[in-house]
Amino acid sequence: MTESAKPLTMDTIVSLCRRRGFVFPSSEIYGGIGSTYDYGHYGVLTKNNIRSLWFRAMVQERDDIVALDSAIILNPRVWEASGHVAGFTDPLVDCRTCKLRFRADQLELSSCGRKPSKRPGETPECDLTEPRQFNLMFETHVGALMDESSLAYLRPETAQGIFVNFKNVAQLARRKPPFGIAQVGKSFRNEITPGNFLFRLREFEQMEMEFFVPPAEADEWFGYWLDARRRWYLDLGLRAENLRVREHAAEERSHYSLATSDLEYLYPIGWQELEGVANRGDYDLTQHTRESGTKLEWIDPDGTRYTPYVIEPAVSIDRIMLAFLCDAYDEEVVGDRERVVLRLHPRVAPVKAAILPLVPRDEGMASRARALYEELRLHHAVEHDDSGQIGRRYRRQDEIGTPWAFTVDEQTLEDETVTVRDRDSLAQERLPIGGVRQWLDDTLQQDWSSPQSR
Ligand code: GAP
Repeated sequence: MTESAKPLTMDTIVSLCRRRGFVFPSSEIYGGIGSTYDYGHYGVLTKNNIRSLWFRAMVQERDDIVALDSAIILNPRVWEASGHVAGFTDPLVDCRTCKLRFRADQLELSSCGRKPSKRPGETPECDLTEPRQFNLMFETHVGALMDESSLAYLRPETAQGIFVNFKNVAQLARRKPPFGIAQVGKSFRNEITPGNFLFRLREFEQMEMEFFVPPAEADEWFGYWLDARRRWYLDLGLRAENLRVREHAAEERSHYSLATSDLEYLYPIGWQELEGVANRGDYDLTQHTRESGTKLEWIDPDGTRYTPYVIEPAVSIDRIMLAFLCDAYDEEVVGDRERVVLRLHPRVAPVKAAILPLVPRDEGMASRARALYEELRLHHAVEHDDSGQIGRRYRRQDEIGTPWAFTVDEQTLEDETVTVRDRDSLAQERLPIGGVRQWLDDTLQQDWSSPQSR
């Protein structure tokens, strides 16, 4: 077995996702629509796993966080109060020569429209305008009229739906600070320099948790959540050398933030924000109190009133998925054959096991494999595959990251055992067919770390 030392490119991941039906460009038959993607079968399964692992860690395994699912289109005053109408902008420059538009603060990451090997502004023909502010919120209209009075926005973050529900939840959830509200759902941003596949999308699925704390405890909880979120990724097998924490300088922070640190991942495009953890102070609750006239504050049983500070870990499933796919991708030569393998954590992998009859036309093998599949699929995402040579079937599963394959062979007919093949080590052992379900349950609970060191 030899490890490949080729640097991973985004194109490699894009082509694997396309080839194996994880992700497709959206409305592709009409030429697509910029930076919007559709998830195919394995993409959906992987996203579901990421979402439920996050929800489990945030809500199910804790006593102090409750769930919420707020609407995508909120009263537009929410976005005025939050500062998004005035301030959720990117500085843009236009090139009068190539007619392209670029983020003024990211020119070094962009390519000139005429000479893609150059940056905008680097050639004598480039003629850039002064930067102008461009709001990232998508506008829509609610109701029959299409005028100013019906203007509304698709939410650019899920967080505001949480803040405007603070009073409802605080009254009904019987929690007192420190407590959190977690929400998962689509957010929309009219990103101007999209691209880089799932990294910067116009429509993405955010997972945000707003943790309301007494102001004096905010620094402590900020550190706590930064550490907890970092550990979540490492426990799910992300390699430590590809994950780092970067503290924002004061001038980079969003308008609401008292402190922000990013968990950055080493994507093929370099170190970039995977998840942000921010101390939003009392900015949002204070703004919504002022603009709505409803007091969003906490009253202790002794009558003490205060506006809680908010610590917010915020991420999108799409960026997590891209990080997991990049981290897991591997190519190696086994014997004289090359294989592509996704070394995903078994709990993240879209399919947990494949059930393969070695000789599909053998009735004894076929019926046992089918019965095992019927049993396992009641409990886990598993696949039955009886088409093609066994080596090709293994490779198909390696490419989608299936951690184990159970093969029904001649010996099964004699002693009712199957082989289990491990995706990473390629080791094979035999198990009683009746014990496979328990083995899979138990093994999925075990710790896992990546065998890769690239
Ligand atoms: N509520 C705070 C907030 O929305 P953000 O840093 O703008 O903060 C939080 O976004 C997270 O959402 C990011 O760390 C990233 O994981 C994800 N995200 C933001 N914009 C994205 C985009 N255009 N495409 C994919 N994910 C995005």
